[in-house]
Amino acid sequence: MCGIVAYVGHREACPIIIKGLKRLEYRGYDSAGIALMNESLNVYKKKGKVSELEAFIAEKDVHGHIGMGHTRWATHGEPNDVNAHPHFSSSKSIAIIHNGIIENYAALKTLLLEKGHTFQSETDSEVFINLIEDIRTNNHCSLEEAVRLALHEVVGAYAIVVLSKDDPDQLVAARKGSPLVVGVGQGEYFLASDATPIIEYTSDVIYLNDHEIAVIKNGELDIRSKEDVKQTPYVQRLEMALESIEKGGYEHFMLKEIFEQPRSILDSMRGRMIAESNHMMMGGIREFENKFVNAERIIIVACGTSWHAGLVAEYLIEDLARIPVEVEYASEFRYRNPIISEKDIVIAISQSGETADTLAAIELAKSKGATIFGICNVVGSSIARATDAGAYTHAGPEIGVASTKAFTAQVTVLTLVAMIIGSKRGTLETTKLHELMVELENIPDKVEKALQLDEQIQEISAMFKDATNFLYLGRGYNFPVALEGALKLKEISYIHAEGYPAAEMKHGPIALIDAQMPVVVIATKDSSYEKIVSNIQEVRARKGRVIAIVTEGDNVIPAMADYVIEVPETSEHLVPLLSVIPLQLLSYHIAVMRGCNVDQPRNLAKSVTVE
Ligand code: G6P
Repeated sequence: MCGIVAYVGHREACPIIIKGLKRLEYRGYDSAGIALMNESLNVYKKKGKVSELEAFIAEKDVHGHIGMGHTRWATHGEPNDVNAHPHFSSSKSIAIIHNGIIENYAALKTLLLEKGHTFQSETDSEVFINLIEDIRTNNHCSLEEAVRLALHEVVGAYAIVVLSKDDPDQLVAARKGSPLVVGVGQGEYFLASDATPIIEYTSDVIYLNDHEIAVIKNGELDIRSKEDVKQTPYVQRLEMALESIEKGGYEHFMLKEIFEQPRSILDSMRGRMIAESNHMMMGGIREFENKFVNAERIIIVACGTSWHAGLVAEYLIEDLARIPVEVEYASEFRYRNPIISEKDIVIAISQSGETADTLAAIELAKSKGATIFGICNVVGSSIARATDAGAYTHAGPEIGVASTKAFTAQVTVLTLVAMIIGSKRGTLETTKLHELMVELENIPDKVEKALQLDEQIQEISAMFKDATNFLYLGRGYNFPVALEGALKLKEISYIHAEGYPAAEMKHGPIALIDAQMPVVVIATKDSSYEKIVSNIQEVRARKGRVIAIVTEGDNVIPAMADYVIEVPETSEHLVPLLSVIPLQLLSYHIAVMRGCNVDQPRNLAKSVTVE
């Protein structure tokens, strides 16, 4: 949440920062601002998208070789020009950009008000910069020292960059709980919430650790701990292609990412399985093989779409590896004093690897001695680094706020995990394992085929674009898919949608069904097929309009559903990888037809770094 970017070097800073902010806009987009140092320290900010800030500064003098920018997802204070970052201190001599939340800001603000500081905005970030100014004035110390001392006073999460009028060649940055990446170029440095604003200029990056402070001064980078101990930075070479963060001819990132799935699913299993020789391997599991084999329980923690992938994994792991699984919302798990033992394995699933609640759930489970296995998409992310072992999903950068290819990549990796543990525990016999491997290898082609339904789904979308409610029903492996389909629709089209296990419909949602209610039923050929056919009849009997996702060649459901979408046949264990595709496309087209901003839906952010 919130994207930050800063630059110091030989180039003009403004264009680099504006472009960087656009790349980070998926993290928040309710207002944006920029601070540039030339003869003085100038701050420009504007409510709305980065493009509005860009238009606002078009006529201004924005030259300079050092500066920083911010795109906001509001926590404290409504989105407006004043609450936008950067924030000046009272004297206007220093400015800050901040991603995170300062929990003790109210107490600090009271103290600072008593000392005569003044505030323009309602933000916690303005309190932070005034605290730094206060410390600097009282201690007559350097900017870097004032930031360091301030970090001992604040409680909460932050990634910050500070610029000072009196130190015109210096950037001071720090992080705790919110990501910050340093890009190391030739005589130039970049700072950003993730690597996407940087890769155009350099592939060498340093992921700042919590409680570290980076000072870039006179072309030199110095990283120190909060205790002022010099740190040796680890420079990593990034392998991210520029095309992967551009739209590549698609109208939206979401559509591009939906269509990338044959490739991203393949990438997520690449090198981990060869069906021909019955070979499977995953580095993270190998290291902790005994723990996995002897685990008494697996707890999955995640949020949002990743939680839905976790639900699919519950079915997979219990069936194939016969280990009891509990799937938890990280935000609930972390606060309810859960029972965790050293024999438990906690699997944390996160696309961004930065979700604050998931990170806190990991820390809690770690403190109780559990082994933590991470499944993340973003390489080098906080969650990837906080876990004992793990597997990257390798889906490539996901920019659209509504998660699509990350979900199918997570499900693929979780399927591999379930198969590997099942085979090691002897609960998954070799023939069945082989069958699943062969079928998994076929999935990318079948996803490709499912994507050919796009035109048909577009036509169906046109029929339902004005609906005000939707119900999604599924059973077994398709129950989490129903939840995911409903989430996709509500987050980007703002149509109220609910996902339900089809049998639960009778315990409430059936009361909602009338001729106005579209009901998406995921009814592929599996062990609960007969049952879901009955559920469709129940919907029809109440005049609900049924859109059924069925297996190719189904000749029963077409006679009873209003619209039928056929996906290729596959094993029941793998069906979510196919049945979710039409639901992604349906939500995409409905949202586009309703004129919604698909890639940047209102109120949402891609990376939820606040709890
Ligand atoms: C936000 C995003 C969702 C995502 C969820 C969990 O709500 O908009 O797409 O599923 O966070 O994020 P994570 O990065 O942990 O998977």
